[in-house]
Amino acid sequence: MQQNLTVFGLVTLAVGGPVLAYLLLLGSDDEHMLEMLRLTAWTAVLVYLVVFVARPLKQLVGSPVSRTLLRNRRYFGIALAAVMTVHLVLLLIVNDQALNLGGAVIFSLMYLMLFTSFNSSPARIGPRNWRILHRVGLYGLGLGYAQSIGGAFIETPLDPVYLSLTLLMLTAVAIRVAAFLKAR
Ligand code: HEM
Repeated sequence: MQQNLTVFGLVTLAVGGPVLAYLLLLGSDDEHMLEMLRLTAWTAVLVYLVVFVARPLKQLVGSPVSRTLLRNRRYFGIALAAVMTVHLVLLLIVNDQALNLGGAVIFSLMYLMLFTSFNSSPARIGPRNWRILHRVGLYGLGLGYAQSIGGAFIETPLDPVYLSLTLLMLTAVAIRVAAFLKAR
């Protein structure tokens, strides 16, 4: 409990602090808000990919690093929720950004995952329910990132950020597929 709160608080401060400073120094007009929305989302994609590949990477490689990643996967998940919370707060501040249904569902799933990320959670809500919630949430977030980043990549394929993020996402999917095939 204590550790979850600490990770959430520290990451919110580490990401939200510079975002706030940037907006205070340079002004919070639409252009700067959109820049910060993109930056928080790109940061979230990187953290998400760690969560997404932690188990399959350990299955495939089994190295000490992959074992450490898997052992700490929960904290990467909490860090992801913290970064996305900064994204959400920015969205709520920008007046003309209506929360769309798909985004609202994904945010709800993410917070349900966050609130059930304690050792006692699987026993409380049932191990099967816990697994379903966390699997659906993981793929729901992934679809959200794939749609936004994939769409931007299709529009500007030579943009280094979208190219890099798309390649990383495809690599992550390949790692999961390879681990799935190995397990069979
Ligand atoms: C609740 C509704 C949401 C709204 C209204 C929203 C809105 C926005 C806006 C305005 C931007 C900046 C886009 C631009 O600069 O053109 C953005 C960026 C982004 N958002 Fe959200 N967002 C929402 C939820 C989500 C969710 C749930 C995810 C992921 C699961 C997500 C992932 C992204 C990504 C990856 C980007 C960067 C896209 C890019 O660089 O072009 N967003 N979002």
